[in-house]
Amino acid sequence: MTAIAISEPGGPMVLKQERRPVPGPSGGDILIRVRAAGVNRPDVAQRQGAYPPPPGASDLPGLEVAGEVAATGPEATRWKVGDKVCALTPGGGYAEYCLTHESNALPVPHGFTLTEAAALPETFFTVWHNVFQRGGLRAGESFLVHGGSSGIGTTAIQLAKAFGARVFATAGSSEKCEACRTLGADRAINYREEDFVSVVKEATEGKGVDLILDMVGGDYIDRNYEAAAVEGRIVQIAFLGGPKATANFAKLMMKRLVHTGSTLRPRTTEFKGQIAAELERQVWPLLGERRVAPVMDMIFPLRDAWRAHERMEEGQHIGKIVLDVG
Ligand SMILES: NC(=O)c1ccc[n+]([C@@H]2O[C@H](COP(=O)([O-])OP(=O)(O)OC[C@H]3O[C@@H](n4cnc5c(N)ncnc54)[C@H](OP(=O)(O)O)[C@@H]3O)[C@@H](O)[C@H]2O)c1
Repeated sequence: MTAIAISEPGGPMVLKQERRPVPGPSGGDILIRVRAAGVNRPDVAQRQGAYPPPPGASDLPGLEVAGEVAATGPEATRWKVGDKVCALTPGGGYAEYCLTHESNALPVPHGFTLTEAAALPETFFTVWHNVFQRGGLRAGESFLVHGGSSGIGTTAIQLAKAFGARVFATAGSSEKCEACRTLGADRAINYREEDFVSVVKEATEGKGVDLILDMVGGDYIDRNYEAAAVEGRIVQIAFLGGPKATANFAKLMMKRLVHTGSTLRPRTTEFKGQIAAELERQVWPLLGERRVAPVMDMIFPLRDAWRAHERMEEGQHIGKIVLDVG
């Protein structure tokens, strides 16, 4: 099969097309004939050598795919050859064939193209776990997501809104803020022009927000403590602005805040299967009605994966970048 491999740690040009053997499914795995693969920021970190694949995972990048089931392992029971699925993968999505456990696959939502379906798993699994399971967001609460126009952010805005929250989002340009509002953000904050702490404080009569999903870290950590409401929760999913910070922990104590975080990729197949089951029950019907949909930024052919990474690193994209595997 054709695959895109990381020839050595480095810039986008280290992504090289290779021929690899088609992997065979064992146990409860399924083999997917990949038609499209989502590109995510963790792929960029993996390419740079900063995010090695967990033990046992493919060395090829690619955490999400959509396509048809091509073969099933001896213990796989849910899918049959030819079924159209989208799936979270342990790695190896930038290829014509990819393995994953059958419980980490979901049906392609009604009316979705495979390119759109490939844009779903990584951000929907991440947002569902961190905003709803870990963050405990409930209808009527207020929610702030940083990086509102990112793959994760565009998913978080739509799901938080669909489940009845009041949504604030930060982003780095007026165009990105406009996109956040179109997706349902009640207030988008251009962080280059406005201070998100002042904005959310003013909009909530000084109360602050109930939940913050943060991928920036750095000096946002102390400011998140300031922007959070009493008994507020902050969920950390990345540190694009740096993992170290000076923060006033008195605010955490006085407001009884909960500051937590998680990473999806190293979690067990069973854990990811539980998220998939909840998504199928609670979110897939919303996708089927197009009340929620991925925001498609650009689609590149698999052989041009390096251009997709370049696009992501330039930081102008809004929503998801996807590879067309053909
Ligand atoms: N913990 C987990 O389980 C998990 C799972 C998936 C992804 N993630 C992480 O979540 C983040 C978003 O992923 P994604 O695939 O949605 O990425 P993405 O689309 O590239 O989004 C990154 C966003 O961060 C904003 N940003 C703010 N400060 C930044 C900085 N210093 N450098 C670069 N970007 C900055 C960018 O837009 P502005 O112009 O608004 O700044 C951009 O919208 C990534 O860091 C990724 O590693 C975590």
